[in-house]
Amino acid sequence: MVRIAKALGLVILCVAVFILSLISYVSLRKDNLFTSSKYIMGGPRIMFHAGFRSQFAMNFLDPSFIPLTNALNEELQGKPYKWKFNKTAFYQQRKDIFSYIDIPSNFSLTKNSVRVGQLMHFDYSSHKYVFSISNNLKSLLPETSPILNKHYSMCAVVGNSGILTGSHCGPEIDQADFVFRCNFAPTEVYSKDVGKKTNLTTFNPSILERYYNNLLTIQDRNNFFLNLKKLEGAILWIPAFFLHTSATVTRTLVDFFVEHKGQLKVELAWPGNIMHDVNKYWKTKNLSPKRLSTGILMYTLAYAMCDEIHLYGFWPFGWDPNTGKELPYHYYDKKGTKFTTKWQETHQLPSEFKLLYKLHREGVTKLSLTHCS
Ligand SMILES: *[C@@H]1O[C@H](CO)[C@@H](O)[C@H](O)[C@H]1NC(C)=O
Ligand SMILES: *[C@@H]1O[C@H](CO)[C@@H](O)[C@H](O)[C@H]1NC(C)=O
Ligand SMILES: *[C@@H]1O[C@H](CO)[C@@H](O)[C@H](O)[C@H]1NC(C)=O
Repeated sequence: MVRIAKALGLVILCVAVFILSLISYVSLRKDNLFTSSKYIMGGPRIMFHAGFRSQFAMNFLDPSFIPLTNALNEELQGKPYKWKFNKTAFYQQRKDIFSYIDIPSNFSLTKNSVRVGQLMHFDYSSHKYVFSISNNLKSLLPETSPILNKHYSMCAVVGNSGILTGSHCGPEIDQADFVFRCNFAPTEVYSKDVGKKTNLTTFNPSILERYYNNLLTIQDRNNFFLNLKKLEGAILWIPAFFLHTSATVTRTLVDFFVEHKGQLKVELAWPGNIMHDVNKYWKTKNLSPKRLSTGILMYTLAYAMCDEIHLYGFWPFGWDPNTGKELPYHYYDKKGTKFTTKWQETHQLPSEFKLLYKLHREGVTKLSLTHCS
């Protein structure tokens, strides 16, 4: 009897030890995770948010995730950094950019810079792909660069990242003299956070495929027409010669504009093969992704027109640095859309962000990271 009791006690002891070691193993792993998260994010405020935790675990496994800088960690920890514009540094960078790219000339092809039948190539596609300049396309080109002699004291470049959601940055953005936007992003429903003003938006022709059914029905055409109407006076910057995959839909777009000539007051700009020069500049800053983001491209172009540039919506991660909550990839993505990292194959958004944050700390450019007051 005593023997049995002894044996039973031993078994219970073993089980207890096993369970204890299991618990300590799990908590050890958890500690590791949080130590790293502490290093990256700092705030205990953020650390215990469930959404953040799972999101962080994902980022931790994600090879593209790079630790952010110490300065940024501190800032996100609630030590707000008083940003101050350094005009000298800004003008120095402008000079550097200008030595690589003639932005006013490269902003758009003009009637004089191409001839009908000329074969264009694509910046990001094999050289074998060509696009013949048609009469119609040529008729849509501006006579001179739309930004020649345009100068604004304060510009905003608005990226499309989910961080804008709930930021209340709309009024601040609208105070800028000139607002750059990317990829025809909607503003109306989101104006509290992203503002109403649009003075330029990029328009990748593939948007017609994705959002306007290739303009195949009358309703698609009406929708597109009405959305263009809202941009009255703004510049539509159309990168038609970056990727050969947009060639077919570019013809649809060109036809549409020719048919509606006189009815729409958007100014069209059609950049040629400019990325070689733009890439060359950013390479001097050790940034050389397969493709630069549209946001940083707009930031580059803004140097030709602006005496100060503020950036919004450039946060590249799937969680809010202030609250730890999960974020969509774009501020206008449907609720419940998962953050995607598909861009990793071509873009290096975290590296771009890191570089822009460095420029922020140097007073060159203000990068908005938190909610606007
Ligand atoms: C502004 O930038 C210049 C050039 O980068 C630098 O030499 C100077 O120290 C900066 N001024 C301030 C106040 O930080
Ligand atoms: C860019 O500007 C340079 C200098 O004005 C010019 O030679 C070149 O043709 C332009 N390239 C494009 C694609 O517009
Ligand atoms: C920018 O766009 C707004 C409308 O969105 C317009 O009121 C304003 O005059 C434009 N500014 C410039 C400099 O074109």
